[in-house]
Amino acid sequence: MSTNKKNPTTDKAVVMTAPSIQAAKNTHKICCMTAYDYSSGMIADESGMDLILVGDSLAMVVLGHENTLSVTMDEMVHHTRATSRGVKRALLVADMPFMSACTVNRALKNAGRFISEGHAKAVKLEGGIPVVPQIKALTDAGIPVMAHIGLTPQHVAKFGGFKAQGKSAEATKALIDDALAVEEAGAFCVVLEAIPVEASELITNAVSIPTIGIGAGNVTDGQILVYHDVLGLFDRFTPKFVRKYAELGKASLAALESYCDDVRRERFPGNKNTLYMPEDQIAQVKKIKIKNRNKK
Ligand code: KIV
Repeated sequence: MSTNKKNPTTDKAVVMTAPSIQAAKNTHKICCMTAYDYSSGMIADESGMDLILVGDSLAMVVLGHENTLSVTMDEMVHHTRATSRGVKRALLVADMPFMSACTVNRALKNAGRFISEGHAKAVKLEGGIPVVPQIKALTDAGIPVMAHIGLTPQHVAKFGGFKAQGKSAEATKALIDDALAVEEAGAFCVVLEAIPVEASELITNAVSIPTIGIGAGNVTDGQILVYHDVLGLFDRFTPKFVRKYAELGKASLAALESYCDDVRRERFPGNKNTLYMPEDQIAQVKKIKIKNRNKK
């Protein structure tokens, strides 16, 4: 991949769009991250991300569910709208939750909600060839679609767990067919999750839209990770493909323990955290008579 072309990610004035993400293939690596609310959206945006996904991983890392199947459209729209208030530059993408796009009509209705109520600029849809009619209908309706193939967590029951995909030549051929089909249907990019780097490279070379990897090696056109994994805020399990850049969970715990300790030892609030009355009012305040209802 050539790296000598101008990288718009260094220019914070450039607002990212689905076409500009699509055009980034073979020019620069595309940086993506999930976010779920105003503050995580703002931090991810200010860090220079090109694309921010309100992922249905919300179900696990924010709402505490076992997998991604339980999050509802209403919850996703609520969090997408909150995230949109913090995102100024990156392309904001909302993840279609389980069964929200199982027919073309449902896909249109629910994706429409993400755009009009959630203020997203695009949606992500899990699946390959089986969801081609939905991708085509959404694209025709003017809603850009990020596709998602490989380990698609909404199919966890079918896969028998969060298991890597595309591990054989036959499975890789099926993934290439999926990738070509979603491109043909109009997707502006495609997420490749938990597949061997060899499969990832073949797919990346086969399609003309950007591939965004998560556990797909360093050969994809971009990378995406889950905010809570990167910052060490979710410890229930950490996939092998995650790199933690901070331990904010541990740092938060230590900070809150210090606060509890300070409250119990009466070290908080201190003078700097206390409001004081103007001098001229103190004498007046002392004259206030309080009727004590507990006195008989
Ligand atoms: O929901 C999510 O966070 C995702 C990304 C991991 C791609 O789908």
